Amino acid sequence: MKGLILSGGKGTRLYPLTYTRAKQLIPVANKPVLFRVIEAIRDAGIREIGIVIGDTGPEIREAVGDGSQFGEVKITYIPQESPDGLAHAVKISQHFLGEDRFVMFLGDNVIQGGISDLIRDFEHNTAWNSQIVLTEVEHPQHYGVAVLDDSGRIQQLVEKPQVPPSKLALVGIYMFDKHVFEAVNAIKPSWRHELEITDAIQWLVTNGYHVYPYVHQGWWIDTGKPRDMLDANSRVLEEIRPQILGKVDEQSEVDARVTVAATAEIINSVVRGPAIIGEYTVIKNSYVGPFTSIYHHAYIENCEIERSIILENARICNVPNRLQDSLIGRNVDVDVADKRPRALKLNLGDYSKVRLAPWEIK
Ligand code: DAU
Repeated sequence: MKGLILSGGKGTRLYPLTYTRAKQLIPVANKPVLFRVIEAIRDAGIREIGIVIGDTGPEIREAVGDGSQFGEVKITYIPQESPDGLAHAVKISQHFLGEDRFVMFLGDNVIQGGISDLIRDFEHNTAWNSQIVLTEVEHPQHYGVAVLDDSGRIQQLVEKPQVPPSKLALVGIYMFDKHVFEAVNAIKPSWRHELEITDAIQWLVTNGYHVYPYVHQGWWIDTGKPRDMLDANSRVLEEIRPQILGKVDEQSEVDARVTVAATAEIINSVVRGPAIIGEYTVIKNSYVGPFTSIYHHAYIENCEIERSIILENARICNVPNRLQDSLIGRNVDVDVADKRPRALKLNLGDYSKVRLAPWEIK
């Protein structure tokens, strides 16, 4: 089997972070989501992986390279001129996929428990032309939605319906054999001018191909929006094995569910897990609370931070309120001014969002 990862698209819902960075490269628990996807496919025993790339292709190529950093994985890049839909991405990947069965994984999805069992089932059940993964969600209108009949067979699939016919969403993991190319060539663009993979799968069902729906019970997160990133970060932090390798001084208190990278330093601070502190990061006179990831080369002094993601080279010092539910980008600098006027001085990029602590809460 081969793997196909979709890492094109624009990531507008994660602006401003994704102005300057591919959304698939934003880390959860200090590892880019795309790396987690590559590892999940590799751990299922697949060695040949194609990555569909768009405008952010150069950055993705630089981060992933030829795949050797992931062990015996060979990466082929498949440029997509514009994000014309998930089924369009399959269409342009035909030369890479050939007649092989393959798993397609959206490069911004994070799922509990990996995909090895799913791949094994699809490999063994050669009568299945496709396997899709479904899970119950609260707001199905944001996803592809499936309706199953009483015997668990797919009855209907619809992309982002205004009135969802069920709560079962399509998770961004799909398995196909070569018949999917008939489907992607037969369907027409949707109202949002995309060739929808949901329509291609519906085409397979309508035309008598066997599509097996697997209902996933654990957590799954499509990291499209900032809140999803923070959720994914919390979920993954809860599952990684903690390790304290860096320097923690005697005045500091670091609890058991914390990972401190080898070159990180914790000085006179309290760190409560689950949390992760990256390489060359310094935490001084501060409190870092649960569900926080601080990436490499960051500097935190005289601050309190909880349930947040702080990216590389950020410098956050002397903030009078606790930072919470925050996503702080690369090279961001937050500090207190050393002279009057006592005013907020903001230098924010387009689409930045700032929520100051309210004066009083009614
Ligand atoms: O996350 C699951 C959902 O993913 C499914 O429930 C939906 O049925 C499916 O259509 C898809 O919906 P999204 O609107 O969330 O897809 P998005 O545009 O965010 O793209 C998903 C990934 O695929 C993302 O990493 C970007 C990449 N992509 C997207 C498009 C449209 C491409 O590589 N090429 C494309 O043309």
